[in-house]
Order: sequence, then C-alpha cells, then structure tokens
Amino acid sequence: EAVLGAHGPLAGKRVLITAGGTHEAIDPVRYIGNRSSGKMGVALARAAVNLGAEVTLVLGPATAAVPASVPTVRVESAAQMLEAARCAFEDADIAICAAAVADYTPVHPADHKLKKAYERLDVVELTETEDILATLAANKGERIVIGFAAETDNVVAYAQDKLARKDCDAIVANDVSRADSGFGTDTNKAWWITRGTIEELPCMSKDDLARKILLNACGLDA
Ligand code: CTP
Ligand code: CA
Repeated sequence: EAVLGAHGPLAGKRVLITAGGTHEAIDPVRYIGNRSSGKMGVALARAAVNLGAEVTLVLGPATAAVPASVPTVRVESAAQMLEAARCAFEDADIAICAAAVADYTPVHPADHKLKKAYERLDVVELTETEDILATLAANKGERIVIGFAAETDNVVAYAQDKLARKDCDAIVANDVSRADSGFGTDTNKAWWITRGTIEELPCMSKDDLARKILLNACGLDA
C-alpha cells in the first residue's frame, strides 16, 4: 500500500480509533471478554497513518499486531477505553469506533480469586457499560464520528437504528455471520450507512475497507 504521509488526503487531520475487545474483571484471574481480534481497527490506524493523518489508536485486548508507526494507548476495560478515548477525542477531527466493547461489566469485581467451593461464582451481577461511541457523538461539535455495527442478521436495519440512536455521522455495518467477515478474518463484507444513504460494499480486505472508510469520512466534512 502507498504511504502518502504529509502529502496524503488526511494530512493535518487528527484521527482517533478505538479497536480490539475489552476485558471486564470478575476477579484477578477471570474476566468477561469477546472474540475481537482488533484487525479492523489496526487496519484503520495503519491506513490513516499512511494517508497522512496524526493517529491515536486506543486498543483493548487484541491479537492483531500493531505497527510501530501507530501511536497506541493500551487499555483493558470498557471504563479505561472510555477514559482514553475521551482524552484523545479532545483534539481529534475524526473518531472511528471499531472496538468491540463489552456491553456489561461486573458490578463488584473481587479483589481476590473467588473460590467456587465457598463463594458465588455461578451468578455475577452485571451493569451496562457506558457507550463510548454515543458519548463521543454527543459531544462532537464539528468533529466526524463513525461507528461500526457487528450484526448476524437484519444487518442494514440494525445498523440504521444504531446510526440514529447513537447520533453519529456514519455506521460501517459488518456482517459477522459470514466465514469471510467479522471476528478474526482478514476480509469484511460491509455497508457504509449515513443518514439517507446506504452503500453496499463488496467483500474486501480489511486494509482496503479501512482506506475506503477513511476517504468516505473525509468526504463527510469537506
Ligand atoms: N460501542 C461503544 N461502547 C459500547 C458499546 C458499543 O463505543 N459500550 C460502539 C462500538 O465500538 C461500535 C458501535 O458502538 O462502533 C456498535 O457496537 P455494537 O456492539 O454493534 O452495538 P451495541 O450498541 O453494543 O448493541 P448490540 O451489541 O446489542 O448489537
Ligand atoms: Ca455490543
């Protein structure tokens, strides 16, 4: 892929990307997590750097390799990801939330390893995490805020609902029911959805999709 750097279409733009999953502690050895590899978010960060942007990647637990050229803040939990994202958002122009954030977190994480013989480990009380994408979008001002939607069915309809509810500028709807799309794959089948437009994209590499998303995002502000 071409490295355009200072001459690229994103030169002078500051881009925040959230990526990877999150781990929500039950106790010091156990957590609630998900299947995110971080590949799509890392591809976005790499593409943004290559297109000339100044990038902050806020990355939760992920197996994807991060190039040394991508400035990265590593986090574990949804709460830490929110904090790091809020901070980087302050001087960002574009935010893209590609992270698979845990939807729920334990209310009372134990400070010691729970013993199943003596303590309750079969029931864990959970509370909903804060929505990072919606929080950024609610404070966006002139900034562009883009989210993802990981769906197995009714992909476009659910994504349109998320676009409206989270009040962002665009949603990349991702069909995670396919073998060639979603968690851990190197390709994605997606739709680019804005208020009033739906663009169905062919299945393509996460690197190509990343470029497409960033160029589309630039077109949103003009
Ligand atoms: N998201 C977020 N913070 C959360 C939950 C989700 O920032 N606590 C963001 C994701 O990064 C993604 C978008 O919201 O950009 C949609 O995430 P998704 O999991 O598809 O949707 P949810 O709103 O969590 O709904 P559900 O999982 O029930 O489909
Ligand atoms: Ca979710």
